[in-house]
Amino acid sequence: HRRVRARDLVAAKERGERWAMLTSYDQYTAALFDRAGIPVLLVGDSASNNVFGHETSLPVTVDELIPLVRAVSGAASRAMVVADFPFGSFESGPAQALATGVRFLKEGRAHAVKLEGGARVAPQVDALTGAGIPVFAHVGFTPQHENLLSGYRVQGRGGDADRIVDDAVALAEAGAIAVVLEMVTSDVAKRITHAVPVPTIGIGAGPHTDAQVLVWQDMAGLRTGKLPRFVKQYADLDAILDDAARRFAEDVRAGSFPAEEHTFH
Ligand code: KIV
Ligand code: NA
Repeated sequence: HRRVRARDLVAAKERGERWAMLTSYDQYTAALFDRAGIPVLLVGDSASNNVFGHETSLPVTVDELIPLVRAVSGAASRAMVVADFPFGSFESGPAQALATGVRFLKEGRAHAVKLEGGARVAPQVDALTGAGIPVFAHVGFTPQHENLLSGYRVQGRGGDADRIVDDAVALAEAGAIAVVLEMVTSDVAKRITHAVPVPTIGIGAGPHTDAQVLVWQDMAGLRTGKLPRFVKQYADLDAILDDAARRFAEDVRAGSFPAEEHTFH
């Protein structure tokens, strides 16, 4: 299979074919999701929470994400691998964004990058695109702005619906090859999906986007506790691994592991 490219994603939109994207932060999930036919893998700054155990996405750094990007791109033979710009790695301007993008492609072997923000970051999108780096935009609820946005809140319910649509259009005009829509009303997502020629990828954005993305540990039930309403859990990995760890420990305590077949003579 050849590598998924930006034009494949646009062609899928034109044919009305929906597709799924997942996060990935390591070689096993990358190879597995690639084999399952997931066309785009995102090494999200959500690694901050889901890999490094921070409370928010803010602390993770480019230096911490690059080895994860490298692991994912090394293991995925078909999927487009997207590296997510962490907080503080692009806001200063196009030069900073370009430096970060170059690092993710050179050192991480990513195929594309993603950055959060509205029309204000269009110059960054333009600079990256000009350098040959495909960009995924990300509008609506942007977790890196959670302090300013006063927490995880659905966007587009007040007078901000038109502004979110304008942001998405400005970013597509600046060259973004896709737009992630996070926690926006289904109505706003539908408007944007019709307004831009590139695919929209929803997370908590309803059924009208061209694609859907979930964090893999949410999708597979490794994360427990109160999950966002937009998550659907397709497996219960927490229960599966809990059971495996308990049975391993029990076998060791009972002396039934290792058995003869695990033993060298
Ligand atoms: O970091 C992340 O996982 C993301 C997706 C949820 C879109 O940005
Ligand atoms: Na992210």
